Amino acid sequence: MAKKRILTGDRPTGSLHLGHYVGTLANRVRLQDEYEVFLLVADYHALTRTTDKEHVVATRQFSRGLVMDLLAAGIDPEKTTIYLQSDVPSVCELHLLFSMLTTVPRLERVPSLKDVMDAEHIENPTYGLLGYPVLQAADILHVKGNLVPVGKDQESHIEVTRELARRFNFLYGEVFPEPDALIGEVPTLPGTDGTAKMSKSLNNAIYLSDDAKTVEQKVRGMYTDPARIRADIPGNPDGNPVFAYHDAFNPNKAEVEELKDRYRNGKVGDVEVKKKLAVALNNFLEPMRERRAKYSARPNIANEILAAGAAKVRPISQETLEQAREAMGLGRVSEQ
Ligand code: TRP
Repeated sequence: MAKKRILTGDRPTGSLHLGHYVGTLANRVRLQDEYEVFLLVADYHALTRTTDKEHVVATRQFSRGLVMDLLAAGIDPEKTTIYLQSDVPSVCELHLLFSMLTTVPRLERVPSLKDVMDAEHIENPTYGLLGYPVLQAADILHVKGNLVPVGKDQESHIEVTRELARRFNFLYGEVFPEPDALIGEVPTLPGTDGTAKMSKSLNNAIYLSDDAKTVEQKVRGMYTDPARIRADIPGNPDGNPVFAYHDAFNPNKAEVEELKDRYRNGKVGDVEVKKKLAVALNNFLEPMRERRAKYSARPNIANEILAAGAAKVRPISQETLEQAREAMGLGRVSEQ
């Protein structure tokens, strides 16, 4: 039987960090053999935030950077197809068809819309921003994706995808699967500053591409229990980002439990807890640094991978589009 498919992706707006890893990258790497995996670099989605020429041009560089981050994280380009969204334009046709099958109020209710508008001080969303989840649905469904490993913030978009697949199938016959979201083991990793979420824009991220010194520095400056001004004051490891990272990235569970115990009893200083965390994080990141160095020896590798990916996805996408058009009664006149 043919393998089921994964489709997921990222906007090329910056480097990937530890939050991305536990939220979605770990699942992508883990499932490479079990599924046929497609990863898209969502450069069209990136336009929903800014259309400044300078930023748009910079997106290309970010796209190549994203490919390098994925390779460093353990994505194997022999197994997984990585492509640039704008290289497969048939997805836009599917997006257009889907845009007729949902309503403006439905899209206005998608929680991420309000979040983005608040965060970026957008008063009136563009038509493109409103339609963001519709394009995402087209991304997933043009390759008939079954499973979508994403961060928790994307769940509402996958719900829109499921609704569109259902609606289409109901109106025109079974063409699309109803994909499931797959949320990572740590749905939201806190930032180094103790805020709820690690995020590039909040400047509280540890990047997969950070070197060992940078990681040490960032960990040293991390937020911990503010009530604990001396090492002999009992502290609370719960809700403390230093321990959240220990839980997520330190494979030595016994060490973590022992540190938590001493922390609760005022028997360990923050310095020691942080030093051990920096060691654990650097151990975790070291194989990524090695892979990055290995792949970087081929200077044009990101472009090559994206070109091969687009060549692979184009016919798959085109075939799905033809099926959808046929089902709707919009088969090509030239072929009738
Ligand atoms: N919206 C996703 C994000 O910002 C990126 C994305 C675009 C995506 N198309 C997708 C994710 C399709 C999963 C499936 O993280």
